[in-house]
Amino acid sequence: MADIIISEEIDGAAIDALGNHYELCRRRQLWNSADELQTELQTARALIVRNQTCVTSSLLSGAPQLEIIARAGVGLDNIDVETASRLGIVVTSTPTANSIAVAELTLGLMFALARHLIPAHTATAQGTWQRQKFTGIELAGRTLGIVGFGRIGRLLAIRARACGMHIAVHDPVLTQTASEIQAHQAEWLPFESLLSAADVISCHVPLTADTHHLFDYEQFVAMRQTGFFINTSRGGVVCETGLAQALQEGRLAGAALDVRETEPPGQGPLEGQENVILTPHIGAFTQAAQQRVVESVARDVQLVLTGQPAAEYVNFDRPRR
Ligand code: MLT
Repeated sequence: MADIIISEEIDGAAIDALGNHYELCRRRQLWNSADELQTELQTARALIVRNQTCVTSSLLSGAPQLEIIARAGVGLDNIDVETASRLGIVVTSTPTANSIAVAELTLGLMFALARHLIPAHTATAQGTWQRQKFTGIELAGRTLGIVGFGRIGRLLAIRARACGMHIAVHDPVLTQTASEIQAHQAEWLPFESLLSAADVISCHVPLTADTHHLFDYEQFVAMRQTGFFINTSRGGVVCETGLAQALQEGRLAGAALDVRETEPPGQGPLEGQENVILTPHIGAFTQAAQQRVVESVARDVQLVLTGQPAAEYVNFDRPRR
């Protein structure tokens, strides 16, 4: 039986190097089979996951040797951190490794929406030549509303300000006088005010009980009819049926989603709509970001399994079992 279980697609030299010292179980689809994962976890000392493996309390209670769960990414909504902590298992993440990648994708989606790049490309590739139809908007002078002003939100603000945009922010733990708001020359707004004030709204919050369906039909119709909505955070923050209805009724100009309520999502009301851009949760997927992510998880697993403190721990730096 293996020492380290890698239950999703997580590759790289740093992971290969772990194989020089430990028995690895690398199964890209293992996340999809709770029973098989449970069997593998009976003797494993480390589990490396992205966001698809549901690390539940029942899974953890059948993992008596587990010392570390290393999350190759930032979001922890798929891991029962409370139970892991109760069982003395270290949980680590890679909080800074992919922030730039996500901020850059968000910026790209904003430009793509503003200039109808996807439908313009599709129509041109089909042999048409329509210029007026794809008249877009300039982002300079427009207001970008950022909901959640952590690392990614701030990196996005810097880039959007360089494009001449005004920055409005809603983050429940900040106020107008917060240094983060001042440093980015942003305006803090209550959530409802931001919805109607922004030309583009981009969401950067973690998925928690409080943020589940933070954006539903009611919030979308409160946005500007000419507005765009972008989500590169967590799919569950958006009620997709509410978004689809608002778009179908013309209450919003367009949306871009990199993350979905269910991943992979299958065919739904958002697929195939001309004013919707859908990407397969690629925010973190640049070569540089993935190299940092993989190096970070491999380093923390190596540290914990050799009795040293983890660097990027979420709960505690050494196992307590
Ligand atoms: C993250 O949370 O780091 C990104 O969304 C990428 C991922 O979940 O794997």
